[in-house]
Amino acid sequence: PKLTSIDLSGLSITQTTTPKSITPNEELVFGRTFTDHMMSIEWTAQGGWLPPRITPYQNLSLDPATCVFHYGFEAFEGMKAYKDRQGNIRLFRPDKNMQRMNRSAARIALPTFDGKKMIELITQFVKMEERFIPSKRGYSLYIRPTIIGTQRTLGVGPPGSALVYVIASPVGPYYPTGFKAISLEATTYAVRAWPGGVGNSKLGANYAPCIVPQMQAAARGMHQNLWLFTEIDPATGEKEDFITEVGTMNLFVALQNKNGQKELLTAPLDGTILEGVTRDSVLALARERMVPQGWQVNERKCTMRELSEAAAEGRLLEVFGAGTAAVVSPIRNISYRDQMIDCGLSPGKEVGPVTLQMKDWIEGIQYGEEEHPWSITI
Ligand code: COI
Repeated sequence: PKLTSIDLSGLSITQTTTPKSITPNEELVFGRTFTDHMMSIEWTAQGGWLPPRITPYQNLSLDPATCVFHYGFEAFEGMKAYKDRQGNIRLFRPDKNMQRMNRSAARIALPTFDGKKMIELITQFVKMEERFIPSKRGYSLYIRPTIIGTQRTLGVGPPGSALVYVIASPVGPYYPTGFKAISLEATTYAVRAWPGGVGNSKLGANYAPCIVPQMQAAARGMHQNLWLFTEIDPATGEKEDFITEVGTMNLFVALQNKNGQKELLTAPLDGTILEGVTRDSVLALARERMVPQGWQVNERKCTMRELSEAAAEGRLLEVFGAGTAAVVSPIRNISYRDQMIDCGLSPGKEVGPVTLQMKDWIEGIQYGEEEHPWSITI
C-alpha cells in the first residue's frame, strides 16, 4: 500500500470530561482497566494516513461486514511505560515493537508506517496518561498498539482502509499468584506455528488458538502448555519433538552439556518463533554478561529428548518463559507424554538464579536503575 507519512502536526487532542479513578495497585488485574484516552489514526488507500487523534477512551463503531471481523485483519503489539524513581516516564526498546508491528501488518496486507512518528504519538499519549502509570517496581502501564482492516466488505482482498489505535492499561505482575514457578503440559495434539506460516507475526489470529491447549493443561492440573514442533532431526534422521514456545512466551533453557559446559539456549528465529523483544534482550544480556562467566549462549533447536535426558542426568539447571507481560516466568516441571520432567528448581524454590538474575537485569534497565540505551526517557 501507498505510504503517505503520518502528519504529527495534524494531531488533535480531545480531553475527557469524565476522568476515571485510579485502581489501587493491589487490585490491578492484567488488561482489565484502561486509561482515560486512546490514540487513533485512520488510513485509506486513497488518502494515506489521516491526521492522528487523541480522544476519550471510547467504543469503536464498525459495520458488521468490516473485514477485521471476518478474515482476521488484525495485528498488535505489547509494550510498557515505566515510572522511574525520579518520576520520569520510560519506554523500553519501542523501536523494536514498531518494526515488528510493521512486519506483522505487511504480512496481512495492512499498511505500514514510520515507526519513529508512531513512537512520537505514543509518547504524547502516554504523557497524557501519566497519572495511570504505577510507580512501584513490577508495575507499569501496558500499551497495546493495534492495527485493523476497516473496509466494509466480505470480499477477500487487501483492505482499502485501516485503523491504528493505541490503548493503555495499568498492570502489575502478570501472574496473579505473584512470582511463582509454573507447571507445563507439552501439547502433542496441536501446533502453534509451522515453517512458512505466520507464527512469527504478532497477529491476533495466533493467540485465540492458544486458549484450548491452556485449558486442557489446566484440566490436568498444569498452568500452561508447552508448544512443540515435530519433525525429522537432520542430526539423527529420527522424528523428534522440538521445543518452540510456552503459552504466549518465548522459552529459555539453562543446562549443562555432557562435557560440563553451561549453556543458555532458546529456539532460533526460523519462522515458527515470535521474535520477542524480551527474548532478544535476554540473549543480548546473556551474551554480554554470562559469556564472560563461562556460559555458552545459543539460538538453537532443542528436543524434548535432550531436555529429558539432561533432567535425568541432573544437568537441567533452569527453564523459563520470557515475554513483555511477565518479563520472565520460572518453570518447575513439564508433563510430556508419560513423563514428568523436573526442570531443576530445588523443592520449595520458586525461581532459579539465572532466571532471577535476568529479571533483575531487565527490570533494572526498564525502571532506569541502570542507565542503558534500551530505556528511553520520554
Ligand atoms: C507477552 O508475553 O508479552 C505476551 O505476548 C502476552 C500478551 C499477548 C498478553
